[in-house]
Amino acid sequence: MMTVATDVEARLQKLEKENRVLQRKLERSERMCDELEETNEKKESLLRQIIQELRDSQASLEERKGKIKSLKSAQAQLVQTEKMSGLGQLVAGVAHEINNPINFIWGNIQYVEEYAYEVRAILEQYQAAFPNIPPELQEYMEEVDLEFLLEDFDNVLKSMRSGAKRIREIVLSLRNFSRLDEASHKSVNIHEGIESTLLILQHRLKANSKRPTIQIQKNYTDLPHLECYPGQLNQVFMNLLVNAIDACEDTNKERTPAEIGDQPNQITIQTQQLDDDRIQIAITDNGKGIPESARSRLFDPFFTTKPVGKGTGLGLAISYQIIAEHHHGTLTYDSEVGQGTTFIIELPICQKSEI
Ligand SMILES: Nc1ncnc2c1ncn2[C@@H]1O[C@H](COP(=O)(O)OP(=O)(O)OP(=O)(O)O)[C@@H](O)[C@H]1O
Ligand SMILES: [Mg+2]
Repeated sequence: MMTVATDVEARLQKLEKENRVLQRKLERSERMCDELEETNEKKESLLRQIIQELRDSQASLEERKGKIKSLKSAQAQLVQTEKMSGLGQLVAGVAHEINNPINFIWGNIQYVEEYAYEVRAILEQYQAAFPNIPPELQEYMEEVDLEFLLEDFDNVLKSMRSGAKRIREIVLSLRNFSRLDEASHKSVNIHEGIESTLLILQHRLKANSKRPTIQIQKNYTDLPHLECYPGQLNQVFMNLLVNAIDACEDTNKERTPAEIGDQPNQITIQTQQLDDDRIQIAITDNGKGIPESARSRLFDPFFTTKPVGKGTGLGLAISYQIIAEHHHGTLTYDSEVGQGTTFIIELPICQKSEI
């Protein structure tokens, strides 16, 4: 009996000992668990901090990118403004210099016509009154071919008159184009601006050794006067028209003269009133079109596909700025490669606030 009791006690003691060991192990593993949780939390918070820092630096990167972009665009604006104001000053200067002399000619042609008419009448009366003139005079009259001279005199005067008229129109257009006198916005007839820009671009539209004339199709409709900075809008017309001419010339590089003759280069200018307060000007060319790869960057400053020295890549960036920011309008386009491109300007007729 004694041995059984001792045996049980011994087993009990052993079990208790094992229990204590297990208890300690449990406590230790609980402690480890706590520590692990703690370090996990620390790591998590560190990770969160790192993520936040990453986000912050990304935001500041975006901000810097934005600043660089707006700096670039400001730089572009400056370069173009400088270029255009130089051109504007030159054009205005030339127009001013031509204005006076052409007005002398224009103003005097009328008198020349009147005098010529009188001299001719007197000559005719002389001839009627004295049909028998001395032979030397007769000889001289034949030598200068008086009959032809009198007949041609009218034609010469007529062509001088139309030439002088044309020069006056050109001077007017040049002044209209530069419009340096206008620092503030004005109500103008937009067609006049388009016409004077076309006149300045005549040399690019005319036929040359590589191609026939680029045809200009004008689909103008009656428009109300538009409140705008006329000089700036003329810059936009100029940029869009030059691009259209370039696109036409580019497409010719891949065509034979016969193909060009079959489908000549053409630029269509369409104007229309959209509703009570908006007008639209669309310039369409049948040039090479704009490839997909160029579309996302088309309005970016300095984006150009033209050879070095030909394009600065500023035309569309500046045009966009002038239309969207200075006139609260829109400048969009529609293009199909190989078919052509249309640039569409939409403008409010009146500016709500001071522009
Ligand atoms: N009508 C068009 N048809 C085809 N491509 C065009 C047309 N207009 C613009 N582009 C494309 O857009 C690019 C950017 O035009 P943008 O007028 O801004 O610059 P650019 O004409 O190259 O140089 P510039 O500063 O002398 O105007 C052009 O290089 C051309 O590839
Ligand atoms: Mg251009």
